[in-house]
Amino acid sequence: MYVAVATMNFREPTLIKGAGSSTKLGNILEGKRVLIISTPSMIRHGLLEPIVESLKEKGIESFVFSDVVPNPTFESIYRCRDFAKENNTNAILAIGGGSALDTAKAVICLLTSKYDDLNKFKGMLKVKKKYPLFIAIPTTAGSGSEVTVAAVVTNEKNGDKFAISDPKLIPDYAVLDPNLLANLPKSVIATTGMDALTHAVESYIGHSNYKKTAIFAKTAVSLISENLYAFYENPHNQQAVLNMQYAAYLAGQAFTKSYVGYVHALAHSIGGKYNVPHGEANAILLPYVLEAYGKSCDKSLTELDKIVQTRQENSNLCSKEHFMSWIRDLNDRMSVGNRLGSIIKSEDLDELAAHADKEANPTYPVPKELNKEELKAIYLEAMK
Ligand SMILES: [Fe+2]
Repeated sequence: MYVAVATMNFREPTLIKGAGSSTKLGNILEGKRVLIISTPSMIRHGLLEPIVESLKEKGIESFVFSDVVPNPTFESIYRCRDFAKENNTNAILAIGGGSALDTAKAVICLLTSKYDDLNKFKGMLKVKKKYPLFIAIPTTAGSGSEVTVAAVVTNEKNGDKFAISDPKLIPDYAVLDPNLLANLPKSVIATTGMDALTHAVESYIGHSNYKKTAIFAKTAVSLISENLYAFYENPHNQQAVLNMQYAAYLAGQAFTKSYVGYVHALAHSIGGKYNVPHGEANAILLPYVLEAYGKSCDKSLTELDKIVQTRQENSNLCSKEHFMSWIRDLNDRMSVGNRLGSIIKSEDLDELAAHADKEANPTYPVPKELNKEELKAIYLEAMK
């Protein structure tokens, strides 16, 4: 499967970057009836208005669905699909974090097929047709959803949370506009940035890493080491923001082709059970999982450390340990903290580890396979 992915011709979005770029989409959307999919907070912060106005000036009609919910539910996705049909829209502009982009992808599944049940799309390669025009405008620098094949949806009736993966869901355009991230809370900057780092690291150390994704991952690590803390300190530093947006985009390219590893499996498990934000869980668990891999990723992490340390003219001292202490230090400087000890209940550990084991084994191309007990030991270590 990994060989197949490496040779598969994944479509890549056309990248549009720069301050104000989200208000310059008139040429692409000319003559379209545009469904804008977004969140209530985007409206509250006045971030949608300039985009809607810029389309209006070009005579383009847009229809705003702003009822996206965190961890998109079937119910909210079906409502968005109905709204698209009622207004006869033929282009989608998704603006927001992972939830808005995932809602858009799920709506596309429904609009391009005769099925009206999202369960039909569970898993890989179930999407019937590509949607005519899909533009993604991420408002965080982390998830990489603007470039990935996947959407995660939740059936609120039975709690089933699953992924829909298909290259037809990759957006046609990804728009990286630093103006939209100027008011992000510091905690969100920190944890979404660490999510992007986790994508880059997990894809790089895994067995399905190949030449192209290795370059994406290394470039992402370099950009993150140079810009994440600068973005955290000053979200109005447009160059740092744009570099982090690009890093998240590249890390997304890397993991959508080369997959993730146990950090994500363990994070998804506690995310589902206790609603721990995805980026926060990854940020905390990343060094513990790298530790548990033992010597299996000594070489690859030393290579990544060389990228991080080059800036500090210290490359002869590079090592896996050095790289891990850089991660811990970055977490500390951004006050990520570790509250897992007070969140995870000891009596849930077996269930959590079993869930992570089921997600990752044998699908994820991890550098060293860990069993259920070893995954449980990682939680225990992180809870200390
Ligand atoms: Fe992630």
